Amino acid sequence: MPVSLLSFCYLIACIFFIIAIRGLASPQTARQGNILGILGMGIAIIATLSSSAVQEIYWIIGAIVLGGVIGIFSALKVKMTSLPQMIAAFNGLGGLSAVFIAIAEIISGSNTRLESTLGLLIGAIAFSGSAIAFAKLQGIIKAKNITYPAQHLINALLGISIITLTIQFVLFGNIYVFYWLTLISILLGFLLVLPIGGADMPVVISVLNAYSGWAAVGIGFSLNNTLLIIVGAIVGASGAILSYIMTKAMNRSLINAMFGGLGKNNSTNQNLSSSDRTAKSSSPSDAAFIMENANKVIIVPGYGMAVAQAQHALKAMADDLIKKGVVVKYAIHPVAGRMPGHMNVLLAEANVPYEDVFELDEINHEFATADVAYVIGANDVTNPLAKQDTNSPIYGMPILEVEKAKTVFFVKRSLNSGYSGVDNPLFYADNTLMLFGDAKKVTEEIVASLEN
Ligand code: TAP
Repeated sequence: MPVSLLSFCYLIACIFFIIAIRGLASPQTARQGNILGILGMGIAIIATLSSSAVQEIYWIIGAIVLGGVIGIFSALKVKMTSLPQMIAAFNGLGGLSAVFIAIAEIISGSNTRLESTLGLLIGAIAFSGSAIAFAKLQGIIKAKNITYPAQHLINALLGISIITLTIQFVLFGNIYVFYWLTLISILLGFLLVLPIGGADMPVVISVLNAYSGWAAVGIGFSLNNTLLIIVGAIVGASGAILSYIMTKAMNRSLINAMFGGLGKNNSTNQNLSSSDRTAKSSSPSDAAFIMENANKVIIVPGYGMAVAQAQHALKAMADDLIKKGVVVKYAIHPVAGRMPGHMNVLLAEANVPYEDVFELDEINHEFATADVAYVIGANDVTNPLAKQDTNSPIYGMPILEVEKAKTVFFVKRSLNSGYSGVDNPLFYADNTLMLFGDAKKVTEEIVASLEN
């Protein structure tokens, strides 16, 4: 394929990618966006395989088939609640490929030392950071923030050695320095993500996603491949924008998120004495009675609703209440569930009207005028310690102020903490009633009571 045709194909692929990302911005256009992304990638792969630069085509086709089979298998098998782990794993693999390409380029004597080194550094941090994020999200290691003495000093020393060794390698090209750089960057990635607590994982994943994009840019320059540069920049920039949105939503600093400064020494609410820890439980029929006699009910869905797949039962409950003249609204926290937009997608699947769904800033002031807050499988996103306990790992995160409603129902199976590992004192508050059980089952029982 002539170079001009190859460049033209790359340009078309990039246009597809840009429109695809635009489509992914809303649940209504997401499917279309996904299809455009697949088409763009198809064009990019076919054009690259037809270029004169590709010599060992059978190896490449073998790798594509292997990667494709693993990708299709995992996409079909992975549950929606496990998507963040999958994203972390894919970010990590993107970073690892950047590392391998950089090593191959340097070993083959390429004179793009600076570009390859930058691709290697960012790729290695994205790889090892994503491995820790994956392990935390999968529950292989504790999601709580793991802190160790002098963590910032150690990270700073590693950062300084990376800068010094990079300058040395770019100037003198000693291959052993390059290998040291690889090892230190991988270690830094581990150490940056290890201290970050579960509640901050959304920010970490989007930052790592941006890193994998910028690693591709570095590699694109060292391979002199415009497509890699453009696509890497799209991934890096959109990941950076998403990180900015997530840090805003979580009231965190973007600089801290990028350099692993989110970890805090946690205290959890040790100030709760055992006498404070008496939770009152209620029954679905009592909950139905209280809600049908309410004027306004605000529903707060969380990760547990996704696990129980309770969205359809929830919609049936809301419909019954609306028929009885109750005003029903849904309050969505930006990090409820395990991925951005998780709750919105599930509610849209159950045909909840978009106009009944409100974001935190739009609805928080309404809890004070609500008779009932129906918190279904949500926990961290309501925890008032985020406002009160300066030592808590979730301190500073904005929360849905459900405690201001007259009655708060928490639908969950136990008094266990949420993903952050921090106890929620609201379970023991005077106006809280616990509805213990699976979110779908409890909500179905409420529907049955409402309909009798
Ligand atoms: P969580 O704080 O994780 O709480 C979910 C609650 O659901 C748990 O306490 C659990 O309590 C309950 N639950 C689980 N299965 C259930 C079932 N079948 N029926 C009823 N309840 C069930 O969830 P959240 O309030 O949505 O907050 C999300 C957390 O995840 C935040 O800390 C956030 O930072 C983090 N996170 C979010 C994302 C994104 S982007 N959304 C990504 C990674 C991490 P029981 O065990 O007692 O039932």
